[in-house]
Amino acid sequence: MAHGMTQPTPKPYISEIHAYKPGKAKADDGRALIKLSANENPLGCSADASAALAGQKDTVARYPDPASNALRLALAEAYGLESDRIVCGTGSDELLNLAAAGYAGEGDEIIHVNYGFAVYEIATRKVGAKVVVAPDDDYGTDVDALPALVTPKTRVVFLANPNNPTGTSMTDSEVERLHAGLPEDVVLVLDQAYGEYLDGDGPAAFDLARKFGNVLITRTFSKIYGLAAERIGWAYGQPHLIDTINRIRGPFNVTSAGQAAAIAALGDKDFVDDSRAHNAKWRDWMNGEIASLSNHGLRAVPSAANFILVIFDGAVNAETANAELMEAGYVVRHLPGQGLGHGLRITIGTEQENRGFMDALRAVLEKAR
Ligand SMILES: Cc1ncc(COP(=O)(O)O)c(C=O)c1O
Repeated sequence: MAHGMTQPTPKPYISEIHAYKPGKAKADDGRALIKLSANENPLGCSADASAALAGQKDTVARYPDPASNALRLALAEAYGLESDRIVCGTGSDELLNLAAAGYAGEGDEIIHVNYGFAVYEIATRKVGAKVVVAPDDDYGTDVDALPALVTPKTRVVFLANPNNPTGTSMTDSEVERLHAGLPEDVVLVLDQAYGEYLDGDGPAAFDLARKFGNVLITRTFSKIYGLAAERIGWAYGQPHLIDTINRIRGPFNVTSAGQAAAIAALGDKDFVDDSRAHNAKWRDWMNGEIASLSNHGLRAVPSAANFILVIFDGAVNAETANAELMEAGYVVRHLPGQGLGHGLRITIGTEQENRGFMDALRAVLEKAR
């Protein structure tokens, strides 16, 4: 026996991974909190989607359609795309992981921007690839700095537009310019989990993916569609990219209930429009409120998503504010592990939640005077 270990040993690059920390819904002492920590839709989901979910309760003994055929057709129709260039996933999370697994491994490099979505680092490390972090430009993407980091080992670039946790967005021409700076054999994964919150639906990104064989768009039903619990994501790209994902995805990776709910959600445009309008209105309001607290050293990073990142540079720091907000019943996202110990990411909630949150934040700041 050449082994000699007392227990199985994970790959060293797996041991180095810090597991993803989801947004909290409860305080450490078990109290329920108002949850503004996970960028969910405060309006819930479309009533049509709820009805479709309920209608699936008798199908649970059967495996779902492994190809999500009806859902891909509905997506193609709704977004003006080709259904054979779409693959669905267990959340866009699965697809991000598969994009890394399909194109990178040990010895390869994957680039993402400083203050990028936490899953990029996990998806990179778990295939043994090296994480390369591109410098940010005041929390946004530095369009020229990122391509400059490409080496012969670069296989994938993860880029979220809008980005989480910063909320920053890139214009279509900036995305095109960044793409033009990448070699043709580097996959640009354009993560548009918050794409529906952009003005319009970001169709220019789809055009880029239609035209170029190295652009994969990922989208989700977890955000504006309000179906986070159902775990439904999708990706769009040229057939060879979709083929790669199809080879390695879970065979039954989207539940029947999820597929039915997503199709119904696509049919309810009013719900999506209302959600976008609600978000824009309250994000504006929240930005105004934060601006009025600049004397306390607070600043909101401009956001195109359903949350805002607030930077704390005054007497009350983000860590203290986070703890005291939790005492007051509100949970937001403090991300020191991502280099954002000085900020809090706040999801736009219902009117009542937003007003209550701002009152609580003001009280925390005033108390310190
Ligand atoms: C930028 C970004 N991409 C992808 C996801 C993954 O979402 P899901 O797996 O629910 O589709 C999230 C979720 O927070 C996100 O913020």
